[in-house]
Amino acid sequence: MRSTVRTWRVFRSWTMGLLAATAFAGHGLEAQAQDAAGGDAARGAQLVYTCFGCHGIPNYKNAAPVYNVPRLRGQHAEYLVLALQAYRAGERSHGTMHANATSLSDEDIADMAAYLAGAPLQPVANPVGTPPEAAQVCVACHGNDGVGIAPMYPTLSGQHESYLERALHDYKKGGRKNPVMEPFAAQLSEADIKALAAYYAQQRPALDIVTPAKR
Ligand code: HEC
Ligand code: HEC
Repeated sequence: MRSTVRTWRVFRSWTMGLLAATAFAGHGLEAQAQDAAGGDAARGAQLVYTCFGCHGIPNYKNAAPVYNVPRLRGQHAEYLVLALQAYRAGERSHGTMHANATSLSDEDIADMAAYLAGAPLQPVANPVGTPPEAAQVCVACHGNDGVGIAPMYPTLSGQHESYLERALHDYKKGGRKNPVMEPFAAQLSEADIKALAAYYAQQRPALDIVTPAKR
């Protein structure tokens, strides 16, 4: 399992390029990415204690600029691995998360992601409200209800609205370097970003804060 995690990472740069194409053609990468979920959640539970100070407190805010710290429980573990690798590599510009990720090994990241994610949210038949027009292109990967259709696509359902806005601005303005999301974010107006963040934030069931393992 460990070696598949490493393999996944090596192939990440070219698979990212392929994602846009395969997402529309079908779920071709799904089986491959599911192999990447090999983290040891029990070991991860021991490593994540430093994370609760922010990710374990309801509505905890990032100070400057002010936005909510993202909810991680119910997220896809595979996506959390990619996100932590991106902070570690400096492909996401957030200073605190870079500092948190910089000394983590691939094994640490896989194990922590397995614990943080818990049981991933499952898609529901009926989304809450009407998707804004700008969501037409997003559903191919993030689903109608915000549940990522494959393990490397983040679930957005019930994520904090201010965090979703922040993430979209970062892809648009270059604070996050990601070849899949950059072109989609680049096309969004301010009004689109607000409408999309509000729509995905209101979906249920929702992502949640992480809580310490029961002993
Ligand atoms: C001081 C508060 C703080 C601490 C401590 C912290 N985080 Fe974060 N974390 C944040 C903020 C703020 C963001 C959003 C950063 C951004 O805008 O990209 C974030 C983002 C993340 C993301 C990306 C989520 C997504 O949806 O893309 C992951 C995964 C994550 N943190 C895991 C961790 C782990 C694991 C630890 C412990 C080792 C940790 N964090 C410790 C504040 C914190
Ligand atoms: C081809 C698939 C694809 C499409 C289409 C797509 N996304 Fe994404 N999205 C991704 C991937 C992959 C990521 C993770 C990127 C990364 O690692 O930073 C992502 C990340 C995100 C994030 C950050 C989530 C987090 O937890 O930090 C948001 C918000 C988002 N997408 C919203 C959208 C919206 C809104 C649209 C439509 C305008 C859209 N996406 C279209 C694949 C896609």
